[in-house]
Amino acid sequence: MRGLFKDEMVVEEKLSRGEDPKIYEVYEVPQQPLSGLLSLGCTFIYPGKVGDEYYFTKGHFHEKEGASEVYIGLEGEGIILMQSRSGETRHLKITPNVVVYISPGFAHRTINVGASRLVFLSIYPSDAGHDYESIAETGFAKLVLESGGSPMVVDNPSYSERA
Ligand code: F6R
Ligand code: ZN
Repeated sequence: MRGLFKDEMVVEEKLSRGEDPKIYEVYEVPQQPLSGLLSLGCTFIYPGKVGDEYYFTKGHFHEKEGASEVYIGLEGEGIILMQSRSGETRHLKITPNVVVYISPGFAHRTINVGASRLVFLSIYPSDAGHDYESIAETGFAKLVLESGGSPMVVDNPSYSERA
């Protein structure tokens, strides 16, 4: 997760003090990447922040541009940032029993904005593929920061548009 949080200095200071907390983990049901099959994953994002920025997942596009995805909230409170290759952004809340639809062609990152762990299921075509590089190059256009005790979605000043 090095290089993903906006306060890189805070990350490096933590690491130099030997602090390297687990931010999230994913459990997936093994599945063949075949058309028509669905994959199921369960993500646990632990509560915490780097500076004022809540813990989040790396985020990715699906390699297959037509591949959508569904998330189902199980525990905790989160926000999902979505972003198309042309820079259109959306965000939605995820809480227990909430179903979130991620449209084809939208990169997605999930942020834990609560005080306890955020747990959700993901269901997606098993041949969707995961492209982490494209969104890592530009970064997400939005950040989710704590402000006065509440989460706020703000513009990322380091976002570089490469439409
Ligand atoms: C699968 C999916 C989720 C994420 C998981 C971790 O398509 O979107 O299962 O893989 O929440 O996030 P990443 O993969 O961005 O590290
Ligand atoms: Zn996905």
